Amino acid sequence: MWPLPGARASRCLLGSLRRAAPPPPPSPPRRAKCNLTAYMPEAGGFEEVRSPSQLQRFSVSSGERFWAAAARHRLSWISDFHTVQDCDLARGRIKWFDGGKLNVSVNCLDRHVHANPEKVALVWEKDEPGSEVKVTYGELLEMTCRLGNLLRRRGVKKGDNVTIYMPPCPLAVASMLACARIGATHNVVFAGFSAEALGERIRDAQSCAVITANQGVRGGRLIELKKTVDAAVSSCPQVRNVLVAMRTENPVEFTHKDVDMEEEMRAEEVVCEPEAMDSEDPLFLLYTSGSTGKPKALVHTQAGYLLYAALTHRYVFGYHDGDVFGCVADIGWITGHSYIVYGPLANGSTTVLFESTPVYPDPGRYWETVQRLKINQFYGAPTAIRLLLKYGDEWVQKYDRSSLKTLGSVGEPINTEAWEWYHNVVGDGRCPVVDTWWQTETGGICISPRPSDPDAEILPGMAMRPFFGINPVLMDMAGNKLTSNNISGALCISQPWPGMARTIHNDHQRFIETYFQPFPGHYFTGDGAYRSEKGYYQITGRLDDVINVSGHRIGTAEIEDVLNQCPAVAESAVIGFSHDIKGQAVFAFVVLKESVEASQADVTRELSGSVTKKIAKYACPDHIQFVQRLPKTRSGKIMRRVLRKVVERDPGGLGDLSTMEDPTVIQDIIQGHRDLLEVNQRERQ
Ligand code: WTA
Repeated sequence: MWPLPGARASRCLLGSLRRAAPPPPPSPPRRAKCNLTAYMPEAGGFEEVRSPSQLQRFSVSSGERFWAAAARHRLSWISDFHTVQDCDLARGRIKWFDGGKLNVSVNCLDRHVHANPEKVALVWEKDEPGSEVKVTYGELLEMTCRLGNLLRRRGVKKGDNVTIYMPPCPLAVASMLACARIGATHNVVFAGFSAEALGERIRDAQSCAVITANQGVRGGRLIELKKTVDAAVSSCPQVRNVLVAMRTENPVEFTHKDVDMEEEMRAEEVVCEPEAMDSEDPLFLLYTSGSTGKPKALVHTQAGYLLYAALTHRYVFGYHDGDVFGCVADIGWITGHSYIVYGPLANGSTTVLFESTPVYPDPGRYWETVQRLKINQFYGAPTAIRLLLKYGDEWVQKYDRSSLKTLGSVGEPINTEAWEWYHNVVGDGRCPVVDTWWQTETGGICISPRPSDPDAEILPGMAMRPFFGINPVLMDMAGNKLTSNNISGALCISQPWPGMARTIHNDHQRFIETYFQPFPGHYFTGDGAYRSEKGYYQITGRLDDVINVSGHRIGTAEIEDVLNQCPAVAESAVIGFSHDIKGQAVFAFVVLKESVEASQADVTRELSGSVTKKIAKYACPDHIQFVQRLPKTRSGKIMRRVLRKVVERDPGGLGDLSTMEDPTVIQDIIQGHRDLLEVNQRERQ
């Protein structure tokens, strides 16, 4: 039942689709061939730019000309824009391509169906190796149109929001594109989030419909998606319909809100009139963690986001027409949005949807997939690379990786050992490794070794160079711009770019305060960075209370909120600590109420269970240390800096404790930490 049976067979339907599709976009004017036009056709008109290496500087100094040319060349418009940009960062006003109208799904589908409906758009790499499903552009358009019609018939209108709670699969992509087609916004929630976390996001986004599957399949295990959705939706009265696709044969109970999605799609028309959307109409919401207890939904809009995703996909990875692009992220994160769905599809690529895990059925899975699907660009997370390198080189060398041209890394710092292994073993030393720095907020990659002169050096573990139109600056904490090299500071971006988020859903004030007030006039990333002697950027980590567990962002305050709600807990403090595989892991210090009689082991189990239930499994503390008191300043602020030093076993680095209310607290905590490590070690033996 997955994807729609018969979709492949219905050539007549594809025929009618072909007729229904809009005319192809005008081809760009031909220019004299030179190095630059071969490299980036839309840059051919910039007379003052002589070489690809000058282009980055030009894209910053003449941003409007650069982005206007790129937007007209790369996107298909219903009507042209009249203003390239209208931005005032200090006020959080960001507008690109005003006056323009377009439809994102037409850009991702119809124009490629025109060129070649049989071209494979998606390769769904299902959990079981060797059972991949290919979906052509023609088929994906058909699925999207049927689903768009179904959503419309079920009352979803332009401006409504739809939550998608699905693992990577063709119907998830069709769901995103169907929303885009009818002008609804989507809110994809990572299918590992708990019912409570999902419910909170559905309510905050005011979704009128939810799309899910009966079950998920990952690493040979079944995941009860529909049951989680049922539990979430029970507290979301505004949800009118839950569309359920069947990933497995196992039946699930249907309630009065539920719709058998594939059954109803079959009855729908295969032509679905696309909405003409303004450049700045919202395209999607995506929740991420910040430094408060409440996750926030970043809002991305139509034209600027799509252009930025498409351009970065093409130039950062050296994508060429005909390549197979393999991003193994989940569609529930921004990486999946920009580099599984929107970037690759806007460029008419063949993009892989990876449903499994790096170690299923064995640690050769990624490379067996590369061999079988002939993947040209592989994009993954350092946490997986670190895990795989522990299994040894044989798992890689067993498979033919000669198709690979570029290797990408995303989501967290990649340490030198993992980088070298990725480069030398996976890439046989012949593929550039692009360590890409960016965020949910930035929409697409902002700092990465490429594009640049293809012969330019790439250093291990460094994101290195700004992308076109990106102007990074480092600031000191007093707000002064640091102009020299060989220096560290707060990483800001001093000019707007089309891919940046436009607001936080329902909280524009929080958007301004978080990103534009710390360094007025600049976008503040929340990360620190080092600029080397040669001017290359290296990300040094978050400057706020956000930690990064296996590439997943989580606010320490979010976890503390959950712990503090447990009846046994008086208060808690959560910090991140270095972990050899996950990058960072969660450490919780917990003060119990005096009346608690349960054993610490029981409370530990209860607390872990609560975090899993209220957030997700990845947010669970690796260690919980029970303490009598937390170190606090005289004004009552928890001194997490001190706790970090304890966990790093660096008591010498505790620094100035003069502001601490009662410095004796710390000795107890250090002793308690030693005891905890001993107990853990004994348990492991
Ligand atoms: C971190 C993921 C070091 C960073 C695309 C950022 C990185 C946060 C890198 C965003 C990198 C992302 N090197 N750190 N190459 N890429 N980060 O929103 O702290 O899930 O602020 O977006 O991940 O995480 P998000």
